[in-house]
Order: sequence, then C-alpha cells, then structure tokens
Amino acid sequence: MSGKGVSQRELLAIDGGVPVRAAMLPYGHQWITDEDVAAVVEALTSDWLTTGPKVAQFEEAFARRVGAREAVAVCNGTAALHAAMYAAGVGPGDEVIVPAMTFAASANAAVFLGATPVFVDVQPDTLLIDPVAAERAFSPRTKAMLAVDYAGHPCDYDALHSIVDRHGAPLIADACHAVGGTYKGIPVGTLAAMNCFSFHPVKHVTTGEGGVVTTDDSAAASRMRAFRNHGITSDHRQREACGSWFYEMVDLGYNYRLTDLQCALGLSQLRRLPEWLARRRQIAARYDGAFTQLPGIRPLAVRDGVAHAYHLYVVQLDLAQLSVSRAQVFSALRAEGIGVNVHYIPVHLHPFYRTRFGTGPGLCPVAEAAYERILSLPIFPRMTDRDANDVVSALTKVLGAYAR
Ligand SMILES: Cc1ncc(COP(=O)(O)O)c(C=O)c1O
Repeated sequence: MSGKGVSQRELLAIDGGVPVRAAMLPYGHQWITDEDVAAVVEALTSDWLTTGPKVAQFEEAFARRVGAREAVAVCNGTAALHAAMYAAGVGPGDEVIVPAMTFAASANAAVFLGATPVFVDVQPDTLLIDPVAAERAFSPRTKAMLAVDYAGHPCDYDALHSIVDRHGAPLIADACHAVGGTYKGIPVGTLAAMNCFSFHPVKHVTTGEGGVVTTDDSAAASRMRAFRNHGITSDHRQREACGSWFYEMVDLGYNYRLTDLQCALGLSQLRRLPEWLARRRQIAARYDGAFTQLPGIRPLAVRDGVAHAYHLYVVQLDLAQLSVSRAQVFSALRAEGIGVNVHYIPVHLHPFYRTRFGTGPGLCPVAEAAYERILSLPIFPRMTDRDANDVVSALTKVLGAYAR
C-alpha cells in the first residue's frame, strides 16, 4: 500500500486506486495517414512489388533529407548495421568497439561477421559512448567503432573522430534513434563513414520493417547494394532494363532487400518528418519543464550544440529519494495506464554474450548502474498535450507515493 487514509483518487492504481488513464498510452507508436495508405495501394497495383522504382526514389529522398551522397535501403536496421560493418571490412578475428547501452542488434552485427564486440562504458548523464573508455578499448585487432546516438542524442562526434583517425579505423553510426538530429549543425546521417537507420514502427518514420545506410563513399554503397542482394552485382530491374539474364555473385550476401511497397510507405512518411520531429521536441520540452520541479527523477542531459531527435525520452530515477526500486515504479506507472519501458538491458549482460564472450557484471559499471534507474516515457508525434499531461500526473502521483 502507498499510504494510509488517502482518497481513492490519490491511491495508486497498483494498490486498487483509480488509474490516471483508462487505456494504456504506449511509449511509441506509428502514425499512418490516408496518404500513406494511398501510396502503398498505388505501389501494390504497379508492376513492381519489390526492387522497383520506389526503392531508388526512397533512397534518393532519404539521402537528400540527411544531406548524404548515398542511401542504401535494406530490410531493417539490423541489416543496415550488418551491411555497414561488412562494407567496413569487419571479419573473423576482428574487434568492433560498441557501447554497452544499446539494443543488442548493434553488437550482433559484428558477431554475424565473426568479429568480437568490445563493450565500452557510457557517460553517466547522457548514456552515450564515453570517448575515454572507447580510446582505451582500442587494440591492434580493432576494425571499427560504433557510435550509438542513444535516445536520439548525437554522440560527441568530434571526440570520436579524433580517436578513430588516430587509430585508422572507420566510425560507423548506429543512428537508429536519431534521424533529424544534428551535431554542431551537421545532420545525423553524415556524421560517420556509414550511418544506420531503422524504420521499425516505433521509430520516427516507418516502413513496417526497414532500414537504410547513408554514406558519402560510393564504393561502400555499391558493396552494400550487392550485399543486400545475395552478393550479386546487378538487380532484377537493371537486368530487365538491358534485356539480359546474366549476373554474377561476387561475394556471399543476403536477401536484405526492402520492397517497393515499403519504400512507397517510407516516401510518404518521410514528408512528415520535420513536423513529427518538431512535435517530439515539443513533448520533450513539456516533460523537461515539469520534471525540473519533481523530486525523484532526472531527465538525461542534453549537450550544447546538438539538436536531439527524441526517439526516446529517458529519465533516471533518483533511487536514494525513493522507497522502492525501478521495477516497482515501472509496475505502478503501467497500472496508471502509462506504457513506460526500459531501454536497455546493457548488451554485455545478455546470456548470449556472457556465454559466448565471457562478459558480465562489472565490465561497464556506469551502464549497469544506469540500467537500474532508467525509464523511457511515452513520446511519439500523435500524442496529445493531454496524453503528455497524463504522463506528468502519473509520475507525480507515483513518485509522491514512493518518496522516502
Ligand atoms: C539502437 C538500435 N540499433 C539497431 C536497431 C535494430 O533495428 P531494427 O529493429 O530495424 O532491426 C534498433 C531497433 O530497435 C535500435 O534501437
């Protein structure tokens, strides 16, 4: 119970009180309009269901949007990471530096290629890769470093570039959270040699499943285009155009293609990216304003000189001020109808990594401590101001009830 003699309104929903919301507000959600549906229907009734003109149009539109020379569309963000690491020449016996606080796919991509992810710790206030820890992790086997723009906050690219330049290794960005972000005025998508994005439904724009790698390196783009198509150097549409059946498979690749149907949806969604980014930032500003007054939580820090893309809005609980753990705050908020989530369990703590690579607790103490305190609050463009107010009310109610 959260207290004696409280009214039904103040009693936490988890203890039988009235929830702040009757229906659960998710932490993220897509927004599909009639225009999107029409675009997909048009593609569906065209001659090309996959690898047709929409793929090239979407790649061009995405590249233009972020200011990159090339964009290579693939079937999801994980495939984008796999393709980027392949193009960087990552292979068996290599090491790839990866921050501990990310989705497992960031590290898995290195493992797909026979490499070992070397997990490095993050900065305590942003949960972004710590450049000092990253520098220490370099060895003669290091083939690449992965910068994860966690939550949508671009990493410290100046610091990371100076490290990789010293060591002669490429920097790859896992920018799956950060389309629309900028670092010192430079758009995410051009900040690393290769920049990977995801179009999963909770991301800024969606193609159902989908991903893209942006790069200014045309040779790398060509390698990735073959990689997504079984390692074959021409695609079906190109062969049709020149009336030829001949093709060659020059390396082992995958079927990582994104379809015309999905690219039609992506093209339509991309048009609303500026408006949706603005809405995400508005919601974040509303939360920032409310939480400066609220004891028990701290939003992640935002560095000067960046424009945050706010895929996630992450807070850290101040557990010293609370009588319960994050798990209990999580359950109490869910009971209030607020679909909070946790991003992420540090990757080196997953059983696969512990077993295969001997990782475990103590390897990245900052990420491990942060994991005990973090919560992702709902943030997506279709949320109303009232939804955002409900989040603030529920947090105020729950943290008030659990204050020490
Ligand atoms: C940081 C990060 N990297 C990679 C991925 C993988 O993207 P996808 O789900 O499109 O494969 C995600 C998706 O959740 C992600 O958040």
